[in-house]
Amino acid sequence: MDYTVRQLLRPQRVLAFLKIAVPVLVFFAIVGLLYWEPHVEIAVYNRSWVKQEILTVPPLGGCFSPSAVSPSYNLTDALYGPRRTEVHAGTTLQFGMDCYEFAGTVQPLHRSSPPRPIPGDQRIQYHTYWRTDLAPFGPRQEWMLKSFFATQDTDRTRLILWSNGDLAHNPILQKWLARYPDAFALKVVDYAHLARGTELEGSPLLQVNDKRAWIDGDLVRLLVIWAYGGVWIDMDSLLTRDLAPLLEHEFVTQWDCYDKKYVPMNGALMHFRKHSPYLCEAFHVMVTSDPPRKGTTDWGALLYFKLRRRLLAGGIPPFKVLPFCFSDARSCRLDNRLPDPFASDPRDGRWTMGYGREEGGGLDNVLGKVFSVHLHNQWKKPFPPRGWVERLLLRKYDQELGSA
Ligand SMILES: *[C@@H]1O[C@H](CO)[C@@H](O)[C@H](O)[C@H]1NC(C)=O
Ligand SMILES: *[C@@H]1O[C@H](CO)[C@@H](O)[C@H](O)[C@H]1NC(C)=O
Repeated sequence: MDYTVRQLLRPQRVLAFLKIAVPVLVFFAIVGLLYWEPHVEIAVYNRSWVKQEILTVPPLGGCFSPSAVSPSYNLTDALYGPRRTEVHAGTTLQFGMDCYEFAGTVQPLHRSSPPRPIPGDQRIQYHTYWRTDLAPFGPRQEWMLKSFFATQDTDRTRLILWSNGDLAHNPILQKWLARYPDAFALKVVDYAHLARGTELEGSPLLQVNDKRAWIDGDLVRLLVIWAYGGVWIDMDSLLTRDLAPLLEHEFVTQWDCYDKKYVPMNGALMHFRKHSPYLCEAFHVMVTSDPPRKGTTDWGALLYFKLRRRLLAGGIPPFKVLPFCFSDARSCRLDNRLPDPFASDPRDGRWTMGYGREEGGGLDNVLGKVFSVHLHNQWKKPFPPRGWVERLLLRKYDQELGSA
């Protein structure tokens, strides 16, 4: 090292240099943030896992071969039949109100009373699941039921509340059973029974249980839709609009508006026909993959993703993926996601970002375009009194249902 360099590296000089350099850097960083928004997301994935689980695409299990398809499933119609409504926008709808406006292009279906009452088991089935050991079923959970009865066609649909223990003695549920005997039912999950005739029949994989209800919840939804057909809706949701126009499609939903590379899909809201070969293929993936890791989405997001890649490789038109805002408009950027359902309105009103927050205003309008609001558990948090959820959703449900 020559003399001048050694001089420059003397501790006092370095310190003097840092004393100026650090504040200058901080200053430029702050000014920079005023003009540029940094996008940083760091996730790490085990390379050999990615190779094994994502990049390898094993063949389909043969569920789409005409001889394997159930007679109750019209393959031609499901895969190639005509449709009224488009649910794929082509690219992700990240900006401004785009996703909401797109949801608004889905026209409601005309409702008419059926000539004679339709028995419960011949209706379009909606399924949801409550784990009795996680929390008691109380008024906070009841809002999901109210949202169903207030927004869906109670002449043509039935909501089945599945659980892992008997709920029949719950007074709240008894009230709704008495009011909607054909549009509401309680059932206890029997894995072995539901899995009959599928590749999972008799499998040790059926004995799963994890604390956060992730893996067993993921399994229940696939099994009940397989056995009964219909819609799955997570209990921690509030329906805002009739789902009927979407039901010509089989679908899951987009995880969030960012399209995470390995986590693009979510099953909080999904629809498949009874004995759908898509679900049959999902069971095949489950049986042929490593067992699910506890507390992961191995039988949720990852499963749907693996399934879609296999479908594409097998030449089968894949199921649809509803844009994030249709059911989970909280999963986008600060400037265009729905306001926090559990925060009270700030006084300055800025948080609605031009939504306008009263009935007939922008936020109300948006809620009329999307189909459901996903609350992401948070069962312990109450809805703030006079907050937007209470004003624009809960109050409407009560009005629609009368003082029941
Ligand atoms: C990475 O994934 C592979 C395959 O799933 C697994 O065998 C291995 O233990 C994982 N490695 C680490 C460091 O987690
Ligand atoms: C299946 O769907 C197609 C197209 O929608 C229809 O033309 C055909 O009649 C249906 N077949 C049966 C057996 O229902």
